[in-house]
Amino acid sequence: MTIDIGSPLLLLGRGADPASERGVSCPGDLPPASDPALVERAHAAKAALGERLFVLGHHYQRDEVIQFADVTGDSFKLAQEAAARPQAPYVVFCGVHFMAESADILTRADQRVVLPDLAAGCSMADMATYDQVEECWEVLEDAGIADDVVPITYMNSSADIKAFVGRHGGTVCTSSNARRALEWAFSKGSKVLFLPDQHLGRNTAVLEMGLGLDDCVVYNPHRPDGGLGADELRAATMILWRGHCSVHGRFSKESVDDVRARIPGVNVLVHPECRHEVVKEADHIGSTEYIIRMLDQAPAGSAWAVGTELNLVKRLADRHPDKTIVFLDKTVCFCSTMNRIDLPHLVWSLESLARGEVVNQITVDEETAHYARAALDQMLALP
Ligand code: 13P
Ligand code: SF4
Repeated sequence: MTIDIGSPLLLLGRGADPASERGVSCPGDLPPASDPALVERAHAAKAALGERLFVLGHHYQRDEVIQFADVTGDSFKLAQEAAARPQAPYVVFCGVHFMAESADILTRADQRVVLPDLAAGCSMADMATYDQVEECWEVLEDAGIADDVVPITYMNSSADIKAFVGRHGGTVCTSSNARRALEWAFSKGSKVLFLPDQHLGRNTAVLEMGLGLDDCVVYNPHRPDGGLGADELRAATMILWRGHCSVHGRFSKESVDDVRARIPGVNVLVHPECRHEVVKEADHIGSTEYIIRMLDQAPAGSAWAVGTELNLVKRLADRHPDKTIVFLDKTVCFCSTMNRIDLPHLVWSLESLARGEVVNQITVDEETAHYARAALDQMLALP
């Protein structure tokens, strides 16, 4: 028996179809991706909650979820938005755990922040635990340099780590303001401990601040003393935590070479969480908001290979049919934890709130919130 599969399938990671990210077309009408009853239920629950509800959606969220966001943004914009909406008693955060924690810290005590699925964590944030960071600080003290070090933590870290940084006079940063955070830190001290994303720290220091690769060392929390000698720590300007994003960390220099060979004249646009050898090869580097702006402003007919989360790249390709927009690497996957927030979980949380039942509330204890707020406020006050 022969099976007619209609159109040929490309093996994963083999062959090349620059347009495939727009979706393979099927004859006839495809059923909707989400149960239409759920869409109706989400609309009804939102309408019932009215002004009492504010839904924030990170750009990496699924289409079925992002359509219900009152505001979409990168982690910086969403932190600002959460802080600027004191009248909504319920804030539903369609994003990951560390973002919901930051929203809880930045909102008023009587506002409740809800994360529709508690499994929506972040593997990068999990790469720096409070105990590990405390131990690292002791290593810096033993090397006699702790007084010279200003700690900076990327937004993608737990509230505990933000509080640690707040207690030690540092700041939070995001991919939109990492350079400004570093400039501020170097006006206060001669060294920076950058947590937990080594790539954002290295890329910003080397490509935007003019530091050399040999000014950076990597502190490995799984090795005694971080795997570094006291002399190495004393000589370093940037002490980078050994953490990375499991999505952006997968793009490679080969993916850049491959797309340039496949699509002549393509512009390579990547997020600064990508590895240094990838970012060095790119034409443009920036946060998700920057990536969106670049593609909105790009001329019709231009070609772009984008190295960031796939939900966003697919949406941008759909939004700009007059431009060629492809995903930088065909073997990199969606962010599995961002994707935990799906329509069933969103409907469940909205309907529960509409009944007056607060589910999956994210709360940060008062002491942690106090110091984490100091580090977040410092970020929001950066020039
Ligand atoms: P931004 O939203 O700051 O661009 O960060 C990307 C990211 O990985 C969020 O988890
Ligand atoms: Fe974390 Fe990376 Fe996913 Fe962002 S994309 S939530 S940094 S694992």
